[in-house]
Amino acid sequence: MTAIPTRDDQFSFGLWTVGWQARDPFGDATRKPMDPIHAVYKLAELGAWGVTFHDDDLINFESTPAERETMVAKLKTALADTGLVVPMVTTNLFTHPVFKDGAFTSNDRGVRRFALRKVMRNLDLAAELGAKTYVFWGGREGSETDAAKDVRAALDRYREGIDFLAQYVIDNKLGLRFALEPKPNEPRGDILLPTVGSALAFISTLEHAEMVGVNPEVGHEQMAGMNFVHSISQALWHNKLFHIDLNGQHGAKFDQDLIFGHGDLLSAFFLVDLLENGGPNGAPAYTGPRHFDYKPLRTEMEDGVWESAKANMVTYLILKERAKSFRADPEVQEALTESMVYALGESTLDPDEGWQEFLNDKSAYEDFDLKKAASISYGFVRLSQLAIEHALGAR
Ligand code: GCO
Ligand code: MN
Ligand code: MN
Repeated sequence: MTAIPTRDDQFSFGLWTVGWQARDPFGDATRKPMDPIHAVYKLAELGAWGVTFHDDDLINFESTPAERETMVAKLKTALADTGLVVPMVTTNLFTHPVFKDGAFTSNDRGVRRFALRKVMRNLDLAAELGAKTYVFWGGREGSETDAAKDVRAALDRYREGIDFLAQYVIDNKLGLRFALEPKPNEPRGDILLPTVGSALAFISTLEHAEMVGVNPEVGHEQMAGMNFVHSISQALWHNKLFHIDLNGQHGAKFDQDLIFGHGDLLSAFFLVDLLENGGPNGAPAYTGPRHFDYKPLRTEMEDGVWESAKANMVTYLILKERAKSFRADPEVQEALTESMVYALGESTLDPDEGWQEFLNDKSAYEDFDLKKAASISYGFVRLSQLAIEHALGAR
């Protein structure tokens, strides 16, 4: 089957993904540096819709204001030529040695203040390029030893930083929303806000909580042994899925950043179904960018880089088509009814039923047929098998 990505699919890529030179903790780069402008043209050719970047992906950290201007101008030309958009921008607060103990939560106050300035300058650029989302991945916010980090103080500083930057966005009418990206570990031994759940809880304490959501990454949640589909469902339930990083991961191990679907494929199928179809009980689907944050395999040269970029999009589109066929199959619909999946959409209490009325309803307890309710088959095996057959293209 052929699946051809188009702009309408809203696929976006980080410049750091296709531009990754494949340097890892054990080995040197296997690929040459990639000109970010070349990447913009190539991604457009392949059918992508947007590009995203860290400040330093585009402009060298220590470059002069004039060099910075030149790079921004080049990017603007490439965007105008290709029609690509910049839906999201982020900050590199992890590569430079100054961030070795973190950025907003470094024990060194000077580093914390420097980090805020680095973000502010890039927020201006993000707004100038029309980005709507600003991602915060706190890869260095954490520790290797519990002796060295007062986690509660660190969370105070994290909140202080995000509150401060949110105020900057509001006062300057930059039109950006923030998305925090959880990750359990790597590069730090333990990273603060390790999962979607911890990020959501943290967000609820922020001064401008309404403008802060999450940017969950498939592999990061799976590294922590979490079910990504559940995490995304909860983020959607809180109206906090502001952005998403799609990739692949084989269970709890180092951050593999594989091509989307090249890890837990069945989870990817259910994820695409959730994002595209919203869920069996009519909850809204996700409408934001389908953003890929992955690493082209270290074994490949530039041809393999573009092969992998294409693979992300094609895999997504195939799964989208498979999810559609799953939802449209009358047998599946019947199985969903049989399994009472739709019935979960009904509220447990009647409208206006208070606890007194509830106590009066004998069918809820006294007359409830316990034996019957305990002895039914839910039919989840049949349903699950139907999903697998659709996912595999056998139906
Ligand atoms: C990772 C992260 C990063 C962040 C990116 C955005 O794989 O550890 O995904 O790639 O998403 O740096 O800041
Ligand atoms: Mn990752
Ligand atoms: Mn990511």
